[in-house]
Amino acid sequence: MSADDLKRQAAARALELVEPRMRLGLGTGSTAKHFVELLGERVRAGLEVTCVATSEATQAQALAAGIAMTTLDAMPELDLTVDGADELDGELRLIKGGGGALLREKIVAAASGRMVVIADDSKRVATLGRFPLPIEVVPFGLGATRLAIARVAAAAGCHGPLDLRRSGDTPFVTDGGHVILDASFGRIPDPPALASTLAGVPGVVEHGLFIGLATAAVLAGASGLIEMGK
Ligand code: 5RP
Repeated sequence: MSADDLKRQAAARALELVEPRMRLGLGTGSTAKHFVELLGERVRAGLEVTCVATSEATQAQALAAGIAMTTLDAMPELDLTVDGADELDGELRLIKGGGGALLREKIVAAASGRMVVIADDSKRVATLGRFPLPIEVVPFGLGATRLAIARVAAAAGCHGPLDLRRSGDTPFVTDGGHVILDASFGRIPDPPALASTLAGVPGVVEHGLFIGLATAAVLAGASGLIEMGK
């Protein structure tokens, strides 16, 4: 079975958690895309839900699928968000932002009563950090912000290059108009410590460590579905 088939299986299981009239957060990325596609089928068959997207790409996909969309301003509390992840550990701590949507993804997850992660089981790791940690920063003062991040990360036991994400010849720009530094730490020994120290760096808008946000995960692997959390 391909990785894409596994992602769809995880998405299909998460769809079973959706109940009529729920307020949903829709994630971003290739796995979340399966969820939106499957949700669209249910909506066209009569399911009533109202959703908030975590990116312009998901917003466009959901609208095209006939899903009723609103904003987090109009609907500031959500029942359930379903989103992918780049990595997750045994405590449901995540690295997200591989698709560049970490800021809106974190705001939407934080506004949700539950956040269910859907992924293929290759995303499960013992220690976070193999996947480069996305850090969203304002373009102004990028050099100074990068230096400051390197210093606080080293103090938290994290070392490695901070690469400006690119899209072709130009820096990748997020939906919020910021840029992303991908931090190849290899290993993040204390994710909460790194998360709080990064949040204090001027110029850092958000980072891809999601701690205490995911309430459950559905991971699809060759031997079936693994469910973590509640
Ligand atoms: C986007 C994300 C995605 O959820 C993450 O990158 C996983 O993507 P995929 O489902 O394509 O593997 O955080 O910002």
